[in-house]
Amino acid sequence: MTTTTVPPIESTKPASEGAWRHQHVLDLDDFGRDEIETVLNLTDRMREVLDRRIARVPALRGHTVVNLFYEASTRTRASFELAGKVLGADVISLTASASSVVKGESLIDTVRTIRAMGSDVIVMRHSSAGAPYLASEQIGTGSIVNAGDGAHAHPTQALLDLYTMRKHFGDLTGKRVVMVGDISHSRVARSDMWGLAAMGAEVVVCGPPTLLPRGLRVGDRPAHAETGLPRVRVETDITKAIEGAHVVMALRLQNERQQGGLLPSMHEYALQYQVTAARLAHAHPEHLLMHPGPKNEGIEIAGDVASGQHSIIEEQVTNGVAVRAALLYLLCGGTATEALR
Ligand code: CP
Repeated sequence: MTTTTVPPIESTKPASEGAWRHQHVLDLDDFGRDEIETVLNLTDRMREVLDRRIARVPALRGHTVVNLFYEASTRTRASFELAGKVLGADVISLTASASSVVKGESLIDTVRTIRAMGSDVIVMRHSSAGAPYLASEQIGTGSIVNAGDGAHAHPTQALLDLYTMRKHFGDLTGKRVVMVGDISHSRVARSDMWGLAAMGAEVVVCGPPTLLPRGLRVGDRPAHAETGLPRVRVETDITKAIEGAHVVMALRLQNERQQGGLLPSMHEYALQYQVTAARLAHAHPEHLLMHPGPKNEGIEIAGDVASGQHSIIEEQVTNGVAVRAALLYLLCGGTATEALR
């Protein structure tokens, strides 16, 4: 573990090849295309490392990554843990339920305590939107990564989604990406919208009116100032939405964030909005089917298509480790990719 006598990580330190200006990763709304491409290009290098028989490099030796999760996670937490270990960092994972949070310790005290032990990066998931922003204002040096804050943002999921799409299409400019489901409560949808907009993709969101963010109406292409979101097309008819789609992404109903009364019944929802083979027949013949997980087969996605020929859901999971390794490397001030040899 590093100590506080180690020079702090500079937020503006040039990292790897390409643009990088971030001390923290909180959402993608403040990422330019150049920085996203830096992450995605470096992710290619990380994939090479991960594909080796012994996937270990000392690039982050002497650095410490702390996973601080106030909410459940399988993919995000495990992939950050793996990513840190592959790069030689010390990785500690804490869950709120097994920490001094249960004794009443505040978020700010918890984050300051972890930082005082010399952590370089704190990867944080919290049920409250904005919690990682608050933490980032408190730590001074070091970095906060938002691993999901309420219904607000999930930038590392969006980056792995962008990477996975780019792997298949090369350039995302003009590609039509359709997200179907509980848009309103989906932090993945919000961060994906920002990332896809930055990469020049055309975004369509589709769901029942009760599960669309406030201010979005069918057919609207509203300006950011009106909705707090980038420009997207809105549909409530799934067949219209999917027409010609290059990517269809099914999103889980975030029951844990809904107040109730937003849907007549699960059965009704599945009938109208489940991503099925019949509906995907309207997409582009070479379309990709994605899902950030965890998925509920039989509700937002049919089991046969989830494991069908167009599905790249497991590829998303695999790429998640590489994207997170790239981010940890950049945040720790990695300046030379020789360390990855
Ligand atoms: N996609 C995602 O965030 O999955 P987990 O909740 O399992 O981390």
